[in-house]
Amino acid sequence: MTERVRADEGHHDNSVSRRAFMHRGLSAGALLFAPAALGRGMPHEVSKPLRSVATRVPTDPFTLGVASGEPTADGIVLWTRLAPEPLADDGLGGMAHHSVAVDWQLAEDPGFRRPVRTGTEHTDPATAHSVHVEVDGLAPAREYWYRFRVGHYQSPVGRTRTAPAATSLAPLFFASSSCAHWEHGYFTVYRHIANAAPDVIFCLGDYYYEGGPHYDPPLSAIVRTHVGRRCRSLSDYRRRHAQYKTDPDLQAAHAVAPWLVVPDDHEVENNWAGDHAYRPKDAHRFLTMRTAAYQAYWEHMPLRRASQPVGSHMQLFRTAKWGALATFHLLDTRQFRDAQACAGGEMPLCSPSRKETRTMLGAAQEAWLADGLTRSRARWDVLAQQVMFCSTARDFNGQGAMVPPDTVNVDCWDGYPAARDRLLSNVRAANLRNFAVLTGDVHNHWAADIPGLIDGLPMGAELVTSSVTSRGDGEPEPRWVPAAQRRHPNLHYWDGRRGWIAGHLTAERLRADYHVVQRVSTPFWPDSVAASFEMADGLPGLRRI
Ligand SMILES: [Fe+2]
Repeated sequence: MTERVRADEGHHDNSVSRRAFMHRGLSAGALLFAPAALGRGMPHEVSKPLRSVATRVPTDPFTLGVASGEPTADGIVLWTRLAPEPLADDGLGGMAHHSVAVDWQLAEDPGFRRPVRTGTEHTDPATAHSVHVEVDGLAPAREYWYRFRVGHYQSPVGRTRTAPAATSLAPLFFASSSCAHWEHGYFTVYRHIANAAPDVIFCLGDYYYEGGPHYDPPLSAIVRTHVGRRCRSLSDYRRRHAQYKTDPDLQAAHAVAPWLVVPDDHEVENNWAGDHAYRPKDAHRFLTMRTAAYQAYWEHMPLRRASQPVGSHMQLFRTAKWGALATFHLLDTRQFRDAQACAGGEMPLCSPSRKETRTMLGAAQEAWLADGLTRSRARWDVLAQQVMFCSTARDFNGQGAMVPPDTVNVDCWDGYPAARDRLLSNVRAANLRNFAVLTGDVHNHWAADIPGLIDGLPMGAELVTSSVTSRGDGEPEPRWVPAAQRRHPNLHYWDGRRGWIAGHLTAERLRADYHVVQRVSTPFWPDSVAASFEMADGLPGLRRI
């Protein structure tokens, strides 16, 4: 595709062709599924005209956009949800209580002249009329475009792509994001990610926030208000997801590339751990809340059926391979962890227990990860996970002295030191060629070497992405950072502004560009690269470039 199409209301000039059809210009109704485009030497299954489906959908049901995810070398998940009234009180998006047939189409070109798959999925209120299409049999390392139709209504067009073949060392351009709070700012970071059009987008948790209106406001400004109360029922979580998904910048990021997602705490409630609520008030109902939250999360994310929740459990740890270049180990650091040390959160005067039995991942996930690392032959093994892996513990008085008691973020791996040591031992035993960790959660950028257990020499790198909006407009450096850096010289870089990481992975190096936006309290703020680091193949540790 070569045409230039403006992607939004005019504040970005998109000249990269593959970005160009993801937005309003080609949205609902603008392109009908074109029977004339079908049957020109296509495989038999696509030569049939698409069935027009009679439904009772009263108005455009595609208000939440489209998404794709879970790319493999031959497959992808396509997602949408029918919601003509996305904020309807019952959480069902204004849909009637009956099953609806949704046509979908996947093509090799944005004009759908070369369709390769079509189909019809039936969806109903049990999954809030969400649609998850698992397409397989596709070509590796290929771009595809997709769309949905119900009756006369057609969805926006999304772009997606498959992973390379198993032996490929073709480069990967990925984006890392986390922590998007509706009230704390505009989702400008998502718009910049969409404009960059990466191959894959990671969302490392806090995709939304569960709190009620004006809970925990930032210093800058509340720019818009959460719908409904603090989430605790299925309809609460569904409405909250739907509200976020109405954001055009978020829709643009979903429509531009496949996502790989892992939830963190705020998809259920702040700082929860295992089967334990953080808020005493929620203790008696926590697993009911988690059941509802997981159901809504699955409904709104481009996940496979293998992740569909069963009661209060959801299968989230999994592997994503990008040819021979990279194996991503997506972790679940919430569902199986022990309760937090001390009183939880960022705690002064806390020395978390080093008890051997304390776990962050749970025994089954730990064994799965150790096995996956041992078997891996990838050039790069990367953990995609939620909470800060390297230590930021600092002495309570902020002087950098090497003595406890500390101020420790016990929600992070600092609160589970024995579990972190075990993971590092497993990494060492697996003799990986290259090791890196992608992290979100802490609303700051960090670039860090991961120190070895015995010698302290770098074993790899941790790339921590700041938030999309959480905590509002940030600052480049707060007062406590020097104390942490004196204590931990492996912490190379910190930035408290909002942003995302652009990761460029090749056979020779991992490069991370730390993007920042100065303000999220004002829409359309431009982004810039505040710092760049790289790690060379076979040389663990980061170098600023
Ligand atoms: Fe967060």
